[in-house]
Formats: sequence, C-alpha cells, structure tokens
Amino acid sequence: MSDPETWTDPFQRAILANSLISVDRAFESTGFRTAATRYRAGTTSAQDQLADLFLLNTGIERHDHEAQASVRGYFIDSGLTMLSHNGREAIDAVVRVPLPDPSPLDASLADCLRRRRSRRRFSGGSVGRADLSALLWAAAGITARARVEVPGSDDTVEMLWRTAPSPGGLYGVDLHVAAANVEGLERGLYRFDPRGGALWLVDGEAAMERALEACCFSEEMISVSQAGAALFLCGRPPKLYRKYGDRGLRYLFLEAGEIVQNVHLAVTALGLGDVETAGFYDQEVNEALGLDGLTATLVHTVVVGVLEEHRDRTE
Ligand SMILES: Cc1cc2nc3c(=O)[nH]c(=O)nc-3n(C[C@H](O)[C@H](O)[C@H](O)COP(=O)(O)O)c2cc1C
Repeated sequence: MSDPETWTDPFQRAILANSLISVDRAFESTGFRTAATRYRAGTTSAQDQLADLFLLNTGIERHDHEAQASVRGYFIDSGLTMLSHNGREAIDAVVRVPLPDPSPLDASLADCLRRRRSRRRFSGGSVGRADLSALLWAAAGITARARVEVPGSDDTVEMLWRTAPSPGGLYGVDLHVAAANVEGLERGLYRFDPRGGALWLVDGEAAMERALEACCFSEEMISVSQAGAALFLCGRPPKLYRKYGDRGLRYLFLEAGEIVQNVHLAVTALGLGDVETAGFYDQEVNEALGLDGLTATLVHTVVVGVLEEHRDRTE
C-alpha cells in the first residue's frame, strides 16, 4: 500500500483524517469513521458505553416468563387497587389554590400542528390563570373515570384516565409549576393536582427562581426571566421499575414526550409561546424542586410565556 502521506484523492484524505480523530463520542469526533475507529470506540471501557448498555439491558425478549409475570401482576387485586390510587397521592403542602375553568382550546388541530413552533423570546407579559389551567389540563387533566371490579372480591375501585397516555396507566410523571408571572398567582413553586384542577403551593419565590435559572443553559438562549411559567415534568422511576424493570425508564421518558406535545398544542391554540428544555442542570433543578434525583427526578421542562409580538395580550 502506498504511503498515506502521499495520498491526494479527497476520499483517501478523508479516510486518513478520520482515522486520526478521537474515538470518544464528543462532537469533535463526529464525521466519517473508519472501521478501525469504530472498533476502538467499541472497545473502550464500559463506563463509556452506558447508553449502549442501557439499551441492551432494557430490551424485551420473547419467552421471558419472569417479565410477563411481572406485568400480569398488575391485573390482580392488589395491582388494581394500587392503580386506582394513581393521581390521588398525597401532596406535601398546605395551601391549595383552585384553578379556574380552563380557557377554551377551540383552534383546529390541523392549525395547531401547522403553527406549533419552539419559541424562545418572551415579552414579560403575564400568562392568564385560565390559560395556565388549560395547559395543565392538556398535560394531565382527568378525562375519564370508571369503577372497576377487583378480581376475587365484591369491591370496586375508581380508575382515572388522563389526556395523555401513560405506560400501564401508572402515571409516573408529576407536574410541578414555576409560576413566575401568572395573573393572580403568588410567585412560587406549585404542584398540579389533576383530581380537582388545583395547584398546591410547595415552595416560595427563591426556590422558584433557582429552578428557573437552572432549567436551561442561558438567558441568551431562552429569555426565561421574561417567561410566565415553567412546567417541570418530574418522574418517579420506581413506579415504573416495579412493573417493567429498568425498561420502565424508557417509558417514563416517552410519557413525558406525550405530555409535552399536548402542552405545545394547547400553547399554540392559546396564542402563547413555549419551548421544551432538556438542557437543564439536573442536580440544581432537582434540589430546587425538592427531588432526590433518583426516586423522583426532573425528566423534562417546558418554558411558557407571552410572545414578544403579543405583549399587549394581558396588559
Ligand atoms: C427532547 C427535546 C429537548 C429539547 N431541548 C431543548 C433545549 O434544551 N433548548 C432549546 O432551546 N430547545 C430544545 N428543544 C427544542 C428543539 O430545539 C426544537 O424542537 C427543534 O429545533 C425543532 O424546532 P421546532 O420545535 O420549532 O419545530 C428540545 C426538543 C426536544 C424534542
């Protein structure tokens, strides 16, 4: 083979350049990779391959009877009774703030799908309380109730279903709300209570500011200080692990995505703006929200506000 230093063909030069690049997954290393760089990337320590290991270890296999038994366990009496408690868990707070009826979401679906866009510049105008109520309803409102017989007993339990689908109906994502500038709402951190369309005040302005400040990389990227509210989607992974094992974590993220798209469509229908942010500083936001980061952890965030061109909407 000729000396690579003498190669002039652009394709050969590209191979040479890429054979010298770093094998880590940082952006510097993206580009055309030779088999050699791929091989080396695949033989670094397990620490560097956590994402691959996660995928491998959370796959489902046919004839895995233990996994099937674990899922079936949710259709026996205690499983059903537990499911019926979803959305009725106690919230550690004393101040309950009722929400008004949600603003109507009567724009056409096709129109909202067409107009939805990530918006990062907000005017500093306040978000209406009925608009916030509509966003929370779209995210996690109760839309159906049914009494279900508990197998092997005369008991029945009431099940609640929501706007967004949830793996196994377990509803492992809770909604926390930073009300920074919402009409008639004290600035602070709240928890959404899907049962009665209410908020519970869980912490004050200082904690809210800390959560907002750490929920995206910078003010230049998203004008968070001018936003009206942020929705923090907080996952409780163990709820999912009990049924699905480690695979439950995948499902938790999927559920968050479904909730967030509902929020985007409602935001669009209301003429507000929003952007989801996965680029948050995990530990800082978790601390501000009072989450330990493992049994309860921030999964996703949506920042909502009045758009700059609609500054006069609520003023
Ligand atoms: C999972 C996920 C995470 C995202 N995180 C951020 C983020 O941290 N900051 C941001 O400005 N946009 C974020 N976005 C928004 C995307 O940048 C945006 O959806 C994309 O550029 C397409 O633009 P569009 O939403 O206007 O169609 C995120 C989107 C998704 C789906």
